[in-house]
Parts: sequence; structure tokens; C-alpha cells
Amino acid sequence: MGRYVVAITGASGSVYGLRLIEQLLLAGNEVVYTATHAGRDVMGFEVGFDIPPEQPAEALLEFLELDKSLPLRHACGEDLFDPIASGSHSMDGMIVCPASMGFCGSAAHGLASNLPERAADVMLKERRRLVLVPRETPFSLIHLRNLTSLAEAGAVVVPAMPAFYTRPTTLDEAVNFVVGKVLDVLGVQHELFPRWGE
Ligand SMILES: Cc1cc2nc3c(=O)[nH]c(=O)nc-3n(C[C@H](O)[C@H](O)[C@H](O)COP(=O)(O)O)c2cc1C
Repeated sequence: MGRYVVAITGASGSVYGLRLIEQLLLAGNEVVYTATHAGRDVMGFEVGFDIPPEQPAEALLEFLELDKSLPLRHACGEDLFDPIASGSHSMDGMIVCPASMGFCGSAAHGLASNLPERAADVMLKERRRLVLVPRETPFSLIHLRNLTSLAEAGAVVVPAMPAFYTRPTTLDEAVNFVVGKVLDVLGVQHELFPRWGE
């Protein structure tokens, strides 16, 4: 099974990131989760989960109603000494979910000024899987250029765009569609949405 970094940045849609962490863990993967300052604030506002300074991984597992023994680690978004800041630390990939336009701008220019930005930079330089789930609308030309640069550097851009051919009837199903598309890119098996033609 894989080892993945999930970074939550300050775009709307932290629910996507939390569902992704849950599904990666349930599929048997190890997960390191991290968040930018804005990511923590927006997540607290949108879903009511504020990363506590004490036992943050355990607190998230409890919030997600998951088994406390699942392999989840929290990496503080300001800690550039964390192992995921180094290319010598072997992780299979990283998903930035949701990815803010601020993050995409920084990552497209290699700023690496906090842990999520540095870890994404590491993924690109090591030619490992980097998946971005941007959430913004409409996109400015600057946003589009930054996303293009990231795609050219090897990132896979999976916008938070739920489809309607699966006929979702709940927000949960719409969230599952986006998260399922991310898992498809990673090659992680899931049953989050019905597949066309099956
Ligand atoms: C409630 C709220 C919702 C936001 N939604 C978005 C969004 O959907 N997309 C986006 O790019 N920025 C959004 N922002 C703005 C970012 O949080 C802001 O640009 C921040 O500086 C991003 O920082 P980060 O990239 O370090 O996480 C939102 C901010 C707030 C307070």
C-alpha cells in the first residue's frame, strides 16, 4: 500500500480533503496530513474541525469516526524540519486538496515557504505523483497560467468539479465523486461513485 501526503490549503472545500484522508486510510494507505494557516482557518469555519495542538492525528481520526490505530500522522504546516520536507524521505505522492490559488501560485514559482509548498516542490523535483484539487471560480488568466505551469512540471490537476451523470442526490455523493476521481489518478481502488457503463 502507499504512503501519501494530503495537504489542506485555504480554498473552500476542506470536506474534500477530509474525505480523501478517510478513504486513503480505509484503503490501507499511510497518510501524513498537513495544512496551511489559511487551510486550518477555513477548515475550522467550514466543517468545525480545528487542528488541536495536542494529538492532532488522534483528534482527526476521532472527528472522522475512524479507528484510532489507523496510520495517520499530522505534520505542522510551519515545520520545515518535518521529514516530508526532504526528497530523501520516501512518500509515494501528495495531494493538495483543496488547493487554493495562493498555493498554486506559490507552488508554480517554487517558493516553498511553508511545509505544504515545500512538500509539493519535493514531489515535483523527485518526479513523484503530485495531484492538485483546485477550487476557485472563475479562474483568472494568472490562475490558469499557474495551473498550466504546474501541469507542465508534472502535476495532475483534478479540479473540484462534481459530475451529474451519476445523478447525485446529496452533497456527500458530489464530494465522493471528486474524491473518487483523485483516487483514480492514484490507482487506489474505491466504490465512491457508480462507473459509467457498469
Ligand atoms: C471562507 C474562505 C473561503 C475561501 N475560499 C477560497 C477558494 O475557494 N479558493 C481560493 O483560491 N481561495 C479561497 N480563499 C482565500 C484563501 O484562503 C487565501 O488566498 C489564503 O491566503 C490562501 O492561503 P494558502 O494558500 O496558504 O492556504 C478563501 C478564504 C476564506 C476565508
